[in-house]
Amino acid sequence: MADSDSRTGTRYTTPEILDYVNRVHTPHDAGLAQAFAVPEGIPAIQVGPSDGKLLALLLRLAHATKVVEVGTLVGYSAILMARALGPGGHLWSIEFEPHHAEVARANLAAAGVADRVTVLVGAGRDVLPTLAGHAPFDAVFIDADKVNYDHYGRWAIEHLRTGGLVIGDNAYLFGELLDDSDRGRAMRGFHELVAASCDSVCAPTPDGLVVGIKR
Ligand code: DHB
Ligand code: MG
Repeated sequence: MADSDSRTGTRYTTPEILDYVNRVHTPHDAGLAQAFAVPEGIPAIQVGPSDGKLLALLLRLAHATKVVEVGTLVGYSAILMARALGPGGHLWSIEFEPHHAEVARANLAAAGVADRVTVLVGAGRDVLPTLAGHAPFDAVFIDADKVNYDHYGRWAIEHLRTGGLVIGDNAYLFGELLDDSDRGRAMRGFHELVAASCDSVCAPTPDGLVVGIKR
């Protein structure tokens, strides 16, 4: 596998290279800049500009109109995804922290996508069942509490159309994917159920991004 002659998996990025490619490919307008600049007191754990742009491009390729996000934070990925939706499209985004949801709603309004996004406050496990009536979805993006990824993944597979996308951030679990822990087991369960029901890959973003197309 990782023999010393192979360059597979070698990384050539530097902070300067990442700054350059983000400047060229993923510039922020005022709306994105506002959502990316997470306020004091809220953890800056949003997806990176290139991961977020990749999400948006994947939704466009899938001609997505109905999308669910688990984990809004303050709306950076939601803005990118909302702008990628086809005509009449809608994003339902679930956020556990009421204050984060409130900031997200303001950011979504400032970015001009408030009419296309519903922010729902609560735990993913409680809110997802309320969305079943809108199924089948074109994509589900999971970026919330890691210990529930297997649950969210199962819900996604059950509520996606054939050809729909399941996408999961932090798929390397901050380097702890192989740990003997509840969230390690949950994240491995997520990988394995996506692989079993989708054509899938774990793209090597900084913390791994699972992308699956439902069979
Ligand atoms: C954390 C969560 C995330 O979704 C992420 O991308 C980075 C960090 C966290 O909970 O610390
Ligand atoms: Mg994340």
